[in-house]
Amino acid sequence: MNGNLKLAIQKKGRLTEKSLDLLKNCGLEIDSYKERLFVSARNFNVDILFLRDDDIPEYVQDGVADIGIVGGNVIEEKNSEVNRVRNLGFGKCKLMFGIPEEESLENPAELQDKVIATSYPEILNKYLDKNSVSAKIIEISGSVEIAPTLGVADYVCDIVSTGTTLKMNKLKKSLTVLESQAELIANKKLSENLSKINLFNELISRIDSALTAKKSKYLMMNVPGESLDSISKIIPSLKSPTIMPLADQELFAVHAVIPADRFWQIVEDLKANGASGILLLPIENMIV
Ligand code: PRP
Ligand code: ZN
Repeated sequence: MNGNLKLAIQKKGRLTEKSLDLLKNCGLEIDSYKERLFVSARNFNVDILFLRDDDIPEYVQDGVADIGIVGGNVIEEKNSEVNRVRNLGFGKCKLMFGIPEEESLENPAELQDKVIATSYPEILNKYLDKNSVSAKIIEISGSVEIAPTLGVADYVCDIVSTGTTLKMNKLKKSLTVLESQAELIANKKLSENLSKINLFNELISRIDSALTAKKSKYLMMNVPGESLDSISKIIPSLKSPTIMPLADQELFAVHAVIPADRFWQIVEDLKANGASGILLLPIENMIV
């Protein structure tokens, strides 16, 4: 046992690549993992454990891993005692009812006495209780969507991300039970280990700056002097924009950090106000 922080991520699945991307955006150098169970980062005292996502909450609860990245759906289902530290903004999906294409299900009351196949019996049970209906739950651990075709269930209750799996099985989306995304979780006693909590705090601040950076872009453009006022009003800047005179006396270079999702809303306004040479650049990291 070394004193490294142990971070569990999904071994193979929807969250694997994006979890690794996030860690790389935090400056961690991680060797290719392939079939290995764990790798150490080369430049940070963290060991990455590759586990089945369903096992991650429990391993973090028991301290086998100190922290983990896993979907909120799995955390809810496993009911483990862990601290939910951050939403990570990726791996967004919904736990939904999937029903045969020709049927309809618009109200939880219509679930009465139905047979529902799911890998999420805990969450589904709570949902049924909350809506005061009773239905028969069939727990299946994989390929849940095939159950209606096989005639073993009326409906499924499963994770929908793009919706392709439902379509392939001639099912369609119905009621939503839970919205989920990747979350960072931590062992409840982590704060008792001083060296690990220091590593954890360092990692969290890197994660926060990577998340902020992802939501922001660096906007650069040239603006005629007389438009500076109107352009400044259009830019939703974190701080005031940087304005620099160019060799061409008429023009100024304007730089600003803007929320990424606002760019397409303001670009026509910027052009209409005389902006030219508009560039939008990704930001790798942002310390705020
Ligand atoms: C879910 C679900 C479907 C698939 C749906 O599995 O069980 O198989 O994703 O995605 P789609 O709407 O994009 O087709 P998940 O990624 O949670 O994997 P796991 O059950 O193996 O952990
Ligand atoms: Zn799983």
